[in-house]
Amino acid sequence: MGEAPTANQVAVAVRDDLRAVMRNFATGVCVVTTFSGTAGLRTHNALTINSLTSVSLDPPLISLSIRRESTFLADLMDARVWAVSILDAEGEDLARIFSRPEQERKKALGSLPAKPGERTGALLLDSSAWLECRYWNHLVAGDHLLIVGEVVALGTNLPRAPLVFLRGECHRIDLDRTG
Ligand SMILES: Cc1cc2nc3c(=O)[nH]c(=O)nc-3n(C[C@H](O)[C@H](O)[C@H](O)COP(=O)(O)O)c2cc1C
Repeated sequence: MGEAPTANQVAVAVRDDLRAVMRNFATGVCVVTTFSGTAGLRTHNALTINSLTSVSLDPPLISLSIRRESTFLADLMDARVWAVSILDAEGEDLARIFSRPEQERKKALGSLPAKPGERTGALLLDSSAWLECRYWNHLVAGDHLLIVGEVVALGTNLPRAPLVFLRGECHRIDLDRTG
């Protein structure tokens, strides 16, 4: 008879299974932006995420889940404000750029078209739709922090083909073809 798995082996198996299951769940792809420093001397930061969730309409709340060790998270929790740009089919390069190490992400922000949101000062990128948020609450959730934000401004751009993250890859969806 084989030996029973240790608690650690069980945890690793569950983690791998969770990944295998969740990769079948299609999500959108966003870039979340925030900054460090004061109004005159801000250093902007950005991160690709797919954990955006709509939480409540009254009050208007959304959530993000960000790795607790992320340096981006430290900036966001200090600034207490952020913006979310929901990427369209042309945004695959942006998704790739803002999943790189911090120095590369910050450098990229200096050369891309982006404008500060009027309510938060966090940068808005070229995208299908956008939100500006301020901190509302958070929950420590394992190795991630689940952050809830109140939406203080939002908007959409002309209808654009969406970018979808599924099975570890970005996919463009042609809505004209799929109906
Ligand atoms: C499509 C996609 C979705 C991602 N979603 C998240 C997410 O929801 N939360 C998160 O912490 N990291 C997410 N990441 C990873 C980050 O973009 C980034 O690679 C990593 O956190 C490095 O951040 P750091 O330099 O701040 O530590 C995602 C990456 C990709 C490509």
